[in-house]
Amino acid sequence: MNKYFKQYKWSNIFAMLRNQKLDPEICTSDFKNRLVVITGATSGIGYAAAMKYASQGADILSINRNKEKSEELCRALKSQYGTDCSYMIADFTKLADIHKAAKQLAELDRNIDVLIHNAGVYVTRKTLTEDHMELVFQTNYLSSFILNYSTKEKFIQQNSGRIIFVNSEAHRFAAWGLHLDDLTWDKHSYSGLKSYGAAKTAQLLSMIKLNEYFVGTKVTINAMHPGNVKTNSGKNNGKFYKLYKKIWIDSKARSIENSSESLYYLGVSKKLEKTSGKFFNLTTEEEPAPPALDKEEAEKLWLLSLTLGGLM
Ligand SMILES: NC(=O)c1ccc[n+]([C@@H]2O[C@H](COP(=O)([O-])OP(=O)(O)OC[C@H]3O[C@@H](n4cnc5c(N)ncnc54)[C@H](OP(=O)(O)O)[C@@H]3O)[C@@H](O)[C@H]2O)c1
Repeated sequence: MNKYFKQYKWSNIFAMLRNQKLDPEICTSDFKNRLVVITGATSGIGYAAAMKYASQGADILSINRNKEKSEELCRALKSQYGTDCSYMIADFTKLADIHKAAKQLAELDRNIDVLIHNAGVYVTRKTLTEDHMELVFQTNYLSSFILNYSTKEKFIQQNSGRIIFVNSEAHRFAAWGLHLDDLTWDKHSYSGLKSYGAAKTAQLLSMIKLNEYFVGTKVTINAMHPGNVKTNSGKNNGKFYKLYKKIWIDSKARSIENSSESLYYLGVSKKLEKTSGKFFNLTTEEEPAPPALDKEEAEKLWLLSLTLGGLM
């Protein structure tokens, strides 16, 4: 029997279903001249978050894979809000790109006030990157691990800053936990939901360890589900998935403002100054699924990620 099954609580599932319907808490404080770093800010939730933070006076540094879209983002932010906007180019399917961005971030000569790990993909067919890793694992999880690992000393030195993962309720699809001995899905059947759930679970496991690093500092790290919102997510898949997304997922989607307001609240609200290591559905705290709370797996994944990420 699966080792996690006894740990599942119906009350947590019902809480998740209830929370899906709640509106997020709103933070009205401004964030003038503070620096917000967002990955994948060229579309969807990342773009909306960049707009929200800029509207409140923040400077935006985004990490994206597309130069033209990054230029366009900066043009929009500057013209609408007069924001200081800059970007780095990094394709997260390439370890070398991730390392370059991580180094630049770690060497920044100003404090990072909020770091939002947002970039992500959903793919229905198993794809390997040129680094021989499964695409979703590398893009959605390992990139954030490398950025966090490389900047953790900077955050500790600043003694301030909030790190936020744009995670997902879909981490619950990794109900059996991670296959740490088979991260390229050679021995297990692959599906979009399984690989996506596994990568989001991996992110939550990394939060357990990173949170330990930040104990005794004013740095916090939290994760959130941004709601089900209509974005470009999944549009890279085949006709069948696109039709399913249009009819089933997008028709039930919420407004993207729910996501951006939530990311602003989690990054700025004074009420969360001391909150760290938690998972939120928009802005409501929730207990993640048991595989995402497994400390032993978190240790193993940490060591594996150091190796796979070329960090030791
Ligand atoms: N939409 C939802 O309902 C939903 C629900 C739960 C969680 N999420 C999470 O929310 C986050 C944002 O997704 P979204 O829905 O806003 O999707 P989206 O519109 O497709 O945005 C994804 C962002 O990630 C970037 N990205 C993708 N692959 C990349 C790579 N290899 N290297 C660097 N950047 C890359 C994209 O860049 P391009 O613009 O160049 O494509 C884009 O900026 C993801 O982590 C997703 O898992 C979304």
